[in-house]
Amino acid sequence: MLLERSKMTKTYSISGYGKMIADRDRMDAYVRALQQAVKPGCVVLDIGTGTGIFALLACKFGARRVYAIEPSDAIQVGKETAAANGYSDRIEFIQDLSTKISLPELADVIISDLRGILPCFQHHIPAIKDARCRLLAPGGVPIPQSDTLWATVVSAPELYAKHSSIWDSKPYGFDMQAAKQREINTWGKGNVTPEQFLTEPRSWATLDYTTIENPNIKAELTWNVDRTGIAHGISVWFDATLAPGIYFSNAPGKPELVYGRAFFPLSDPIDLEPGDTISITLQANLVVDDYVWSWKTRAIDKSGKIKANFRQSTFFGTPISPEHLRKLVA
Ligand SMILES: C[S@@+](CC[C@H](N)C(=O)[O-])C[C@H]1O[C@@H](n2cnc3c(N)ncnc32)[C@H](O)[C@@H]1O
Repeated sequence: MLLERSKMTKTYSISGYGKMIADRDRMDAYVRALQQAVKPGCVVLDIGTGTGIFALLACKFGARRVYAIEPSDAIQVGKETAAANGYSDRIEFIQDLSTKISLPELADVIISDLRGILPCFQHHIPAIKDARCRLLAPGGVPIPQSDTLWATVVSAPELYAKHSSIWDSKPYGFDMQAAKQREINTWGKGNVTPEQFLTEPRSWATLDYTTIENPNIKAELTWNVDRTGIAHGISVWFDATLAPGIYFSNAPGKPELVYGRAFFPLSDPIDLEPGDTISITLQANLVVDDYVWSWKTRAIDKSGKIKANFRQSTFFGTPISPEHLRKLVA
């Protein structure tokens, strides 16, 4: 059972939970959304309570009962903290995944933050959908309400070098392009400034948690380039609406929150010029316990000549030997 849980969710250290609570912009928005939604006597479900912060706040704002769900052993800290603050009688801690539990009553408010760098992270979307359908009272309030994902093409030589420079340097004289091909098909946290944008940010998708069904996302974005620069990758981030009028943003140029921004490197840098067109098809598919990300890039100059045509995917970023693959599919 413990093995099953650890495969389903990322495990955080206590200092990791501390960093989430120390992120004032994120917390201030969550506190305001919770304060707005919690009415005296109401029932709150805190999915992924961690060390218990949202459950404690819900009690402070007058919740009659809080169900605090957490599969990891961090829940023990939540229990001790509830006792230290006099809320043990109002918070029921349940050590499990929200998708595996049932409750004796429906929740008036469901609060969660199961995102990673981006909201397409592990079972975040299926868990939210499941809770909305099974555990939320009619007319109940989910927090967050929606996330909007944004993407733009960026010039970011330093971030790009992290994925490529060691392999391009032919370490000790060896051709190590096989390793570069894996690393160029991975993405991670990487900050950029608005000055590094080569295109205007475009909305890639909006995840409306009051209606969302499908965890998979795919959209093509096309830009007419109007400035000269070398494209190294795609910067992707999300803006959150926690409740009507209560937002936070991860946009480059704003103070960096605990989530950060995602950087997807291109197979090769592209020299862009005014008159070029660049199209990116970005796709996130939930496969078993996490997402496979794919990004296709096509750049065309003003005469119609193809400057770049790349197909990248985290599927190509994981080295796997034929022997291991055979065992996995057997
Ligand atoms: C990003 S942490 C958030 C912790 C805390 N709520 C906060 O916002 O500071 C996400 C937590 O959700 C838990 N989690 C992930 N999926 C879950 C699920 N389906 N049910 C319950 N907990 C889940 C993880 O173990 C992790 O502790």
